Amino acid sequence: MTPAPYYPADPRNRTRPWDENRYRADGERLLREGRLGCFVVAGGQGSRLGFEGPKGCYPAGPVTGKSLFAIFAEQILAASKHYRRPIPWYIMTSPLNHAPTVEFFERHAYFGLNQDDVSFFAQGVMPSIDRATGRVLLASKHEVATNPDGHGGSLKALFVSGALDDMRARGVEHISYFQVDNPLVKCVDPVFLGLHATAPDSSGEMSSKMLPKRDPAERVGVFAKLDGKLGMVEYSDLPEKLASKRESDGRLTFNAGNPAIHLLGWRFVERLNSDPAFSLPFHRADKKVPCIDPETGANIDPAEPNAVKLERFVFDALPLAERSIILETDRTTEFAPIKNASGEDSSESSRRIQTERNAAWLELHGVQIPRTPQGEPDCVIEISPLTACSPEDLTDLPDRIQRGAKVAL
Ligand code: UTP
Repeated sequence: MTPAPYYPADPRNRTRPWDENRYRADGERLLREGRLGCFVVAGGQGSRLGFEGPKGCYPAGPVTGKSLFAIFAEQILAASKHYRRPIPWYIMTSPLNHAPTVEFFERHAYFGLNQDDVSFFAQGVMPSIDRATGRVLLASKHEVATNPDGHGGSLKALFVSGALDDMRARGVEHISYFQVDNPLVKCVDPVFLGLHATAPDSSGEMSSKMLPKRDPAERVGVFAKLDGKLGMVEYSDLPEKLASKRESDGRLTFNAGNPAIHLLGWRFVERLNSDPAFSLPFHRADKKVPCIDPETGANIDPAEPNAVKLERFVFDALPLAERSIILETDRTTEFAPIKNASGEDSSESSRRIQTERNAAWLELHGVQIPRTPQGEPDCVIEISPLTACSPEDLTDLPDRIQRGAKVAL
């Protein structure tokens, strides 16, 4: 196992300089030609967050309380206008949250997107298995209890649902894959697209972004080369000795954390599915699954995990790509996930990171931001993607933000 090479976030980095302008130009050309489709995986159960309803409906905007879906929609709308090409958006749901997801979009008039450019499809499910007996659980007398088959199920679902055919008809060649819980993700990133599609060390099949790990114990999988092939090593599989190993400059040797942001080549997904036996491996997780007692028919709402859930993970497709590149990104710039009800990776931490990113954008324009003695912005700032998708888009700014103010731009 060796560390995975990556393009550093700063293209002037001396160990591996690269031509950001060239790749941005390549990505922008592809966008103007309509070669990109956006794809959000939104079929998860969001059990840690404990929110009623699909996670994409969660109010994530720190000032407006705008939903995650609205934030992505505004990004896609802004990019479609900028590149003067519609960017189709594919939304993977699960049979459990499909109807309320579609209903949410209808209620919000598709957030200004053309309805024909938004499609929904449900992913597959797997039977939930009794942890104690290994038998399949029943949801009701005539119905097997199931769970969505993981974000890796998306690679099959894209094919089975007809989404890949729709992409072909539209001339889409690359798919921007992101998760539903990160309001800062760049749904449309021309530089990443350019690297993925045209860098000499990329086969344009599956590319990834990486975040440097905070510390050796951070519970995040890392990209690594295994027998020469790029793959992911889950944190639970990385021996402590390797997790804490450092380079001479102090960097963790295996520092390439996985924020689950990818670009997929249309051809790659098509190639995988051309084999009818295509299947990613299953991972097991112990979960609480409501079911019935098969003897008495009584409902069981377990307080402790009673079931084994089988899931596929999308990163297991990485070694199937011929040549795969990784681009480094930064937490404040692109990662503010909402996973938990409180603490780390919660809506509270996400709001803080969003404000931090927005404050940094405003400071680039000379706007004065009030800060606490610890250096955190002492205000809340939200920037709609329709106002700006990057700091360069910002105009007509105030000179300063008042201490304690809540500002939506
Ligand atoms: P998570 O691993 O955070 O799982 O999903 P989750 O089900 O949403 O949340 P918990 O673990 O129950 O709290 C990461 C991303 O993958 C999607 C989720 O919607 C989220 O965008 N996902 C996960 C699916 O689309 N389908 C799945 O079967 C699992």
